[in-house]
Amino acid sequence: MTYRQHEEALNNPVFSIISDAARELSLDSYVIGGFVRDYLLQRGTPKDIDIVAIGSGIELAKLVAKKLPGSSEVSIFKNFGTAMIKFKDTEIEFVGARKESYHRDSRKPVVENGSLEDDQKRRDFTINALAISLNPEDYGQLLDPFDGIGDLKRQLIRTPLDPSITYSDDPLRMMRAIRFATQLNFIIHPESLQAILDNKERIKIISNERIVDELHKILASSKPSIGFALLHETGLLSYIMPELVALQGIEEIEGQRHKDNFWHTLEVVDNISKNTDNVWLRWAALLHDIGKAPTKKFDKKIGWTFHAHEFVGSKMVYKLFKRLRLPLNEKMKFVQKMVLMSSRPIVLSEDFVTDSAVRRLIFDAGEHVEDLMTLCEADITTKNPKKQKRYRNNFKIVRQKIEEVEERDHIRNFQPPISGEEIMKTFNLRPSKEIGMIKEAIKEAILEGDIPNEYNAAYTLMLQKGKEMGLKAE
Ligand code: CTP
Repeated sequence: MTYRQHEEALNNPVFSIISDAARELSLDSYVIGGFVRDYLLQRGTPKDIDIVAIGSGIELAKLVAKKLPGSSEVSIFKNFGTAMIKFKDTEIEFVGARKESYHRDSRKPVVENGSLEDDQKRRDFTINALAISLNPEDYGQLLDPFDGIGDLKRQLIRTPLDPSITYSDDPLRMMRAIRFATQLNFIIHPESLQAILDNKERIKIISNERIVDELHKILASSKPSIGFALLHETGLLSYIMPELVALQGIEEIEGQRHKDNFWHTLEVVDNISKNTDNVWLRWAALLHDIGKAPTKKFDKKIGWTFHAHEFVGSKMVYKLFKRLRLPLNEKMKFVQKMVLMSSRPIVLSEDFVTDSAVRRLIFDAGEHVEDLMTLCEADITTKNPKKQKRYRNNFKIVRQKIEEVEERDHIRNFQPPISGEEIMKTFNLRPSKEIGMIKEAIKEAILEGDIPNEYNAAYTLMLQKGKEMGLKAE
């Protein structure tokens, strides 16, 4: 990994404006936290800037807003003693240095003013406690009392204080440690890891929204399994998603074993992350097998079965989303659909791939058929090279067939070629179940391949079905 020197970090002209404003108010100010960390790590140009003032952060924000043409009004969060202004696409947050618990999301009022170092040691990790001076006498100097730079180089997540203090100040930090370890591919210091194990139960006091924020960030990383393995190892996962933990383990009866579906799931999530940035598709990969724990059975003749686990799993998605306060909108429906259909392409590819089976797959998956294929391909985790090759090849055939069939039959965004209104007009009908029956017969005939997806053929079939049902065309 390459590191940037901090000298160039203050190129953005807002820093000199903040510096001038602080001087006018006779207070010291520093840029601190994620901005400094990400700048040094060359993680793009950080969007959010955190400023700590030795004095009132709110007063500083007000003066900066005055001096910065084009900046937004100041939003003040009095309880937390913080203020924020937006400038172009940057959010600049101001806080006064504190002695006691730093954290702005804490419900406790934080009042006692402190020095820069007081503030730094109350932050979560040494790499997040790095500060750069905005004061004229040492403008641009890096202030690093806890060797955050050393930890960046060692790729280490470490707390400035005894980790049990840092984590009890804000138990969400246990998840943040794991999230940063995943995003940055860093190691969590053993003492920190132990402290997380010891304090895992305290995660209960953290709101689901904040937990989910971290889960999203873990899932959006390039190798999410790092985070989920750590969540599991520390015991946090049992509090957050026991459904996943229930997948762990291999049982053996009469010499028959099933795979460990927890570790398999993590492999699937890593696989899919190579092929998609869609975080909801990654959620689907994470949850695609959750129905396997409650449906697991052993049958003397056929061995282990997970009958209807896709259906059970898709129901569990709703409960899990509701509990974690994930959105219960079309995103959830998408995840449910992926889970429900997750075995369809496999079943299909094991047999001779018929056009009608492909049409049904496209019809049921609709606009998400590509995503479904991406999920199924990620689901191949066999270590047997022969099987691996066979599965990949089968899916290639399915994909080709999907393209061919779709080009010909246009099933993906299926619109019935004959509308209900036209059926009503033809047979002089009022709204009734006959209309639905005729529509269904036309759809079935198209999916089966009995007629092409075209108006004329559908019209003829409509007349024929109507006749069979004793209806008279006008
Ligand atoms: N911080 C903390 N404890 C927390 C949250 C934040 O000590 N529970 C401090 C850290 O110094 C952190 C800074 O506040 O760097 C800003 O927090 P935030 O914006 O949440 O995170 P970033 O570090 O900027 O990282 P990211 O944007 O990736 O979340």
